[in-house]
Amino acid sequence: MDLEDAHPVFPSATCHLVEESARRPACGSDAPLSADATAAAIHQAVALAIRQDVGTLAARRRAFLRRCWPYLGPTQRRHVTDHCWAVRTAVLRLGAYLALPEATLDLLGRAALFHDIGKCRIPEWILAKPAALADDERAVMSRHAAIGASIAADLGAPHSVVRMVAGHHRRADSGADPLAPPATAVLTAADALASMMSDRPYSPARTAPQALAELRRQAGTVFDPAVVDAAGAVWGGRRVA
Ligand SMILES: [Fe+2]
Ligand SMILES: [Fe+2]
Repeated sequence: MDLEDAHPVFPSATCHLVEESARRPACGSDAPLSADATAAAIHQAVALAIRQDVGTLAARRRAFLRRCWPYLGPTQRRHVTDHCWAVRTAVLRLGAYLALPEATLDLLGRAALFHDIGKCRIPEWILAKPAALADDERAVMSRHAAIGASIAADLGAPHSVVRMVAGHHRRADSGADPLAPPATAVLTAADALASMMSDRPYSPARTAPQALAELRRQAGTVFDPAVVDAAGAVWGGRRVA
């Protein structure tokens, strides 16, 4: 399995675009990502430029994040790095328990590192909002999966990884996505576990039993029941990462 890169280290920088977006009082009619339009343009240009480079996918991901870093707020940074690494840890443990083939584990690990990279283009003030999102804000947030898939594709990620990133919030009861590998359900559950067991702007971290209980409550609707059973067996009350 390709263990990819070590945890990236980035320089600190002034997040002027983030400060601008943080001053926005609400999500306007042209809300989608417009507050970060400049940053979005830069990210897109960087992604296209990086695609021309030789090197591993991990190296291109690191280079992409390094170039985006000055434009990201603290919550955006946590989502695109620490959270993705926590989900990678969770997804590999869950996948190993499910005895997934080594090649599938490799793809899952890569998809985990990319799954929320699209949040670099979701305004910081939405990601950091200490309350439930309004409908229009939730609509903006929901775009991060498609944006992340686009970034992953631009960086040359395998098609399976791109489809996993695109579908990582797809509900189990919405039917299987014919374009997404079945293992996407593992990423969805691991992501939810890691998220629930971390402090979030609108709620403190849940304990492992609480997070697993929530997973079980939504088994068959949001989450694949077999994956939920596996999560219970793997963690049984311990921290995910
Ligand atoms: Fe996500
Ligand atoms: Fe996530």
